[in-house]
This record gives sequence, C-alpha cells and structure tokens, in this order.
Amino acid sequence: MDRRELSALAHADHPISAPLSDSTVEHLLRRAIRGQNAHLLDLGCGDGTWLLRALRARDGATAVGVDISGAGFDDVLGEAARLGLADRLELRRQDVAEYRSDRKADLVLSVGAAYAFGGLLQTLQAAREHLAEDGLLLLGDCFWEREPDPAVRAAMEDGPQKFADLPTTVAQVVADGWTPVYGYTSTIAEWDEYEWCWTGTLAQWALDHPEHPDRDLALQMSADHRTSWLGGYRGYLGFVVLLLRPTPAQA
Ligand SMILES: C[S@@+](CC[C@H](N)C(=O)[O-])C[C@H]1O[C@@H](n2cnc3c(N)ncnc32)[C@H](O)[C@@H]1O
Repeated sequence: MDRRELSALAHADHPISAPLSDSTVEHLLRRAIRGQNAHLLDLGCGDGTWLLRALRARDGATAVGVDISGAGFDDVLGEAARLGLADRLELRRQDVAEYRSDRKADLVLSVGAAYAFGGLLQTLQAAREHLAEDGLLLLGDCFWEREPDPAVRAAMEDGPQKFADLPTTVAQVVADGWTPVYGYTSTIAEWDEYEWCWTGTLAQWALDHPEHPDRDLALQMSADHRTSWLGGYRGYLGFVVLLLRPTPAQA
C-alpha cells in the first residue's frame, strides 16, 4: 500500500474528507441544489460521496466527479448501482486540470481540493469555466482561525497553497467576482470528529492486521498526524464552505 491508499483507509469511517458532519453535508446540499434536474460537477471529488448523497434525494439530477486518486470509486459506484442511480453518476479518474467538458454544471463543488489547482484563485477560475449561467459554486477550503506558530504554518503550507484568515479569504473570493449567498464554518466538534476518525481508523486497522507489511507505516502515519493536529493546528486551522454565485457586471 502506498501513502495514498493508507490515507483512503483512514477515511473509511468519515468518507467526506473534510471536517463536516453528515447533517452539515445534507444541509449544504439542500442549500446548493436548485431544481430536480440539476447537473453537478465535483472537482476533486474524493470517492464521490458528496455526489452520491446529492443524487439520492433528487430524481432527475446527474453528476460527474473527477479525482486523480480513484480510491473508493468502486464502492460508491456499487452503492449507486444498488440504489438505481448508476446511470446518473459518472466518476472519472483524472487530473482536474485536464478535465474538459461541453456540459456546463448547475452546481460545481470543490471541497478541500483547492490545492489540486494550486490555490483558491485558480480553483475559482476552473469552476467558472465549468459553470452554467445562473450556476452555483460550493467551495470548501481552509483558513487560519488564529495566527499559528510559524512552524505549524510552514507544515500546513508546504505546497503551493497558502491560507489567510477568514475575512481575507472571503474578500479574495469577492474580489475575484463572486457573491457569497451562504457560508458555513466547521465547528471544533466537527474537526475533532474528523481527525479522531482519520487517526483512529488507521490505528485500528494496523492493530487488527499485525502481520501486514504496512502495519508499522500505518501506525506511524496515524501517530504523526495526531501529533501535528493536537500539538499544532487544532483550534488554529478553520474550514469554511462558501456557496457562491458569479457577481453580475455592474450596469
Ligand atoms: C481533501 S480531499 C477532498 C475530497 C472530497 N472533495 C471530499 O470533500 O470528500 C482532496 C481530494 O483532491 C484530490 N486531488 C488532489 N489533486 C488532484 C488533482 N490534480 N486532480 C484531481 N483530484 C485531485 C485528492 O485525490 C483528494 O481526493
């Protein structure tokens, strides 16, 4: 198993790879999807759980999810087939930067995947290209609740993406030509549930598979993640989901 597969294992008890409870996910989908026949596109869809949940309650809706990993696709597609939704859900294993489609989406989702585009503004640009007129974007990303220790900041910003505080994050989005029509910030309980599931599920798997060659790696990954969370970004890193509409040009 490589680290990506171990990470997928860690998400088994919390298939949404973001600090959002099941009821929050349902709430956000209710706010975001307008009309029964909406077409949804999820850029960086994880295993496709957001889309499966969206389709379950909306008869005519269709959805495409794109993720470079593909981990968990088979399970979600199997569940979609069991529910009679298979013909309305397509999951594509592909780099989001390479995804092209003539079909515009009524709702574009990108939750916790802005790093796949290189940052927030690049994600907004990609979403705009896929959005139908009058479409909505559901964008989830991290921000700093409080100024972290420089070492914590460096550890969490080791890729192209840098985070700002919440007012600055929202101001960047607005300046890019979007109007927030709703927003949700994760609670500390949602963060704790997410992180305990991540670290605990992986540790549990390792303890249940003492002979597995990746047992020690899994235990180490779980412990490292727990330390960087509890001793580092807990209470500092926030997560916000914004429901956005393109701001019309001024008359
Ligand atoms: C934090 S997870 C969020 C997944 C999902 N949106 C959710 O909320 O459950 C980020 C996802 O982005 C995907 N990803 C990262 N880089 C990508 C890329 N270049 N193209 C497509 N997907 C990418 C990862 O495989 C991962 O599934």
